[in-house]
Amino acid sequence: MDVRVAQTAGFCFGVERAVDMVYDQIHKHREEKSTKIYTFGPIIHNAEVVKDLEDKGVIVVHSEEELSHLTDGIVIIRSHGVQQSIYNMLEQQGLTIIDATCPFVRKIHKIVQEQEEKGYKIVIIGDSNHPEVQGILGWVQSGGTVVKTREDAENLTISLDKKICVVTQTTFNYNKFKELVEIIAKKGYDIHVLNTICNATKERQEEAQEIAEQVDAMIVIGDKHSSNTQKLYEICQKACKSTYYIQTLDDMIHELPQLVSMETVGITAGASTPNTIIEEVQKHVRDIF
Ligand code: F3S
Repeated sequence: MDVRVAQTAGFCFGVERAVDMVYDQIHKHREEKSTKIYTFGPIIHNAEVVKDLEDKGVIVVHSEEELSHLTDGIVIIRSHGVQQSIYNMLEQQGLTIIDATCPFVRKIHKIVQEQEEKGYKIVIIGDSNHPEVQGILGWVQSGGTVVKTREDAENLTISLDKKICVVTQTTFNYNKFKELVEIIAKKGYDIHVLNTICNATKERQEEAQEIAEQVDAMIVIGDKHSSNTQKLYEICQKACKSTYYIQTLDDMIHELPQLVSMETVGITAGASTPNTIIEEVQKHVRDIF
């Protein structure tokens, strides 16, 4: 059996940086039991890592409402970033902010602010339910428009006499982004397109597709709630019918009957999948066959 593991599998720069920042805070405040450390939302879409942090005393705050009741402590903003109003709220409450927003996401916040000041209406290609997109929207004073599907692009209601600036969620599928931009451009807008898809995402997607096209079975490892892992799965499934989406080694063990007859297996993983899980899965596949 030939096993091919994607070199781009696992933590991206932004996620690794955010996780390190949380462990760094735990380390700095380990003597002061009274200092509370919160993350606004789970720091990454990975249950094992979040559980480890919780065991070390980190508290996950799930909503703005919950956040508004905090009176002291440290709040860590995750790599997805947040809207401007959250920073204002935390400052007013006198909380210490540790900003783990990925610099690539922070750059999009700055772009939309600048372009709006120049008179552009902002269009974000992405998923309106994703926290990163909600964060970006929160930096657009006059309200941005989110486009996720062909229908959204075809039904864009911004008046044609407006200039529009298009940015995209960092983890969006590059081919889909191009397709949606073409639909919008054909409408005749004065359009300024900034491809803000993160290179880490693009490289990971391209490598996953390349491997999936060449193997009999493909394993995609990542949390079920991770948007970038879901997209990796979609890409791999298109290229390789026998694609399996697993969260941990235990999930894979259930998929083994299908894998036994395969000659080549590819492995990739989302940006929030720790290396330990990738190694476990890889080792298991090699050992079994
Ligand atoms: Fe940042 Fe790209 Fe990761 S935007 S969080 S390095 S996928």
